[in-house]
Amino acid sequence: MTKAVLRNSTLEDLDKRSFLHPFTSLADHARLGPWIVESAKDVFIRDSLGREYVDGVSGLACVNVGYGRDEIAQAMADQVRKLSFFPSFWGTSHEPGIRLADRLVDMAPGKAGKVLFGTSGSDANESQVKIVWFYNNILGRPKKKKIIARHRSYHGTTIAAGSLTGQAGVHRGFDLPLPQMLHTREPDYTKYAEPGMSERVFSKKMADELDALIQKEGPDTVAAFIAEPVGGSSSGVLVPTEGYWDEITRVLKKHDVLLIADEVVSGFGRTGKMFASDHYGLEPDLLTLSKGITSGYAPMSACVISQRVMDVLSSASAEYGAFGHGYTNTAHPVCAAAALVNIDIIEREGLVERAAETGAYMLTRLREIFSGGPHIRAIRGIGMIMGVEFDEPAPGVDLNDTIPMQILRQGYKDGIIIRATAGNHTITLSPPLTIARKEVDYLIERFARGYELVTAAQAK
Ligand SMILES: Cc1ncc(COP(=O)(O)O)c(C=O)c1O
Repeated sequence: MTKAVLRNSTLEDLDKRSFLHPFTSLADHARLGPWIVESAKDVFIRDSLGREYVDGVSGLACVNVGYGRDEIAQAMADQVRKLSFFPSFWGTSHEPGIRLADRLVDMAPGKAGKVLFGTSGSDANESQVKIVWFYNNILGRPKKKKIIARHRSYHGTTIAAGSLTGQAGVHRGFDLPLPQMLHTREPDYTKYAEPGMSERVFSKKMADELDALIQKEGPDTVAAFIAEPVGGSSSGVLVPTEGYWDEITRVLKKHDVLLIADEVVSGFGRTGKMFASDHYGLEPDLLTLSKGITSGYAPMSACVISQRVMDVLSSASAEYGAFGHGYTNTAHPVCAAAALVNIDIIEREGLVERAAETGAYMLTRLREIFSGGPHIRAIRGIGMIMGVEFDEPAPGVDLNDTIPMQILRQGYKDGIIIRATAGNHTITLSPPLTIARKEVDYLIERFARGYELVTAAQAK
């Protein structure tokens, strides 16, 4: 395109020309172009055509405190004026970074030691892998490097984090996964439990499978297990079965395998506790945080490293020299300022408790409306993350045309944003923790309307 033509181009044209979008078919995008969002306030989004929507998914499960908070804008603007950037290499520091690290150490489940900041969930999980490898090298266990994740999990897209992700779509064409990354079954009771099997027995079975995998690979080669304490990403909202985490931690301890709890989605109140680990008494060796840490106001992530792991890292300082990892934007002061105010808001407004209450109401409404309906398989949730699982699509059905995908498209027409996960056969809801009952009712009523329209059309 010439410069003259570009001047008259629409945003849609420019997007199609220049913007490579994650998780978007290049061919479809060239044909369909973007959906452009213009502004957002609280739980409402407005697009470039002036249409308004209730955001039932907090962007990407990020915006825990809702959109457009003046208090966060002010804190970020003040920080830009005071100290817009400074690195944290070579022991240099600044107040927002120090205060945020210290606050996270106090808040985090288990005995936290220190915090390493990044800017995305992927880079944080990438860092966790390097920390685990470093840890075992220091301990003189150079073979203990394999990391086990779960099928259908999502831990990011970088080389190591993308390998941990248990989805072919993230591996295909990218020479992933790395050979050190293995996968075990996720505790999907609806999918895998045998008829009549209790949740407790099922949990034991999942842990036995993990145990068997570790034994097969050799416990001296397995370094860590990574999972979301409550699966909120790709697996269609996985609330673990009764006793699951007790059984899993027993196996991990037996083989001296570290636990990495990925709380990129579940952290900061999303599940009705500050961290999902708190539901199960988990004390992760490594904890990954992002998204809700700033409610998406600024890109930030954190690896919270337990004291136990920190002690080992510190012990080898003289031998290895400087800790040779980190990023230019580690602990970016403007992002840290946003995070501090965001956490203030979560605490001051009681958003964790509110997530538990509103989430319980939403789950009850979803069960009243959808339970036993055509194509409905399960309804799960905890706090403000819930999923309605539909029957798996029949072989040959285009994954862009599953019932949940059709409901999702109807939702856009009706002014709600919902998400399809788990191979597009689960509808996931994860609205801002601030959402009012009125908007919850609107969201669920529109979702139910879409469901009725789509299933009625299917029945014809
Ligand atoms: C559980 C989990 N871990 C890691 C990530 C990766 O985060 P990011 O997209 O910021 O790299 C995500 C993203 O959705 C996630 O849901």
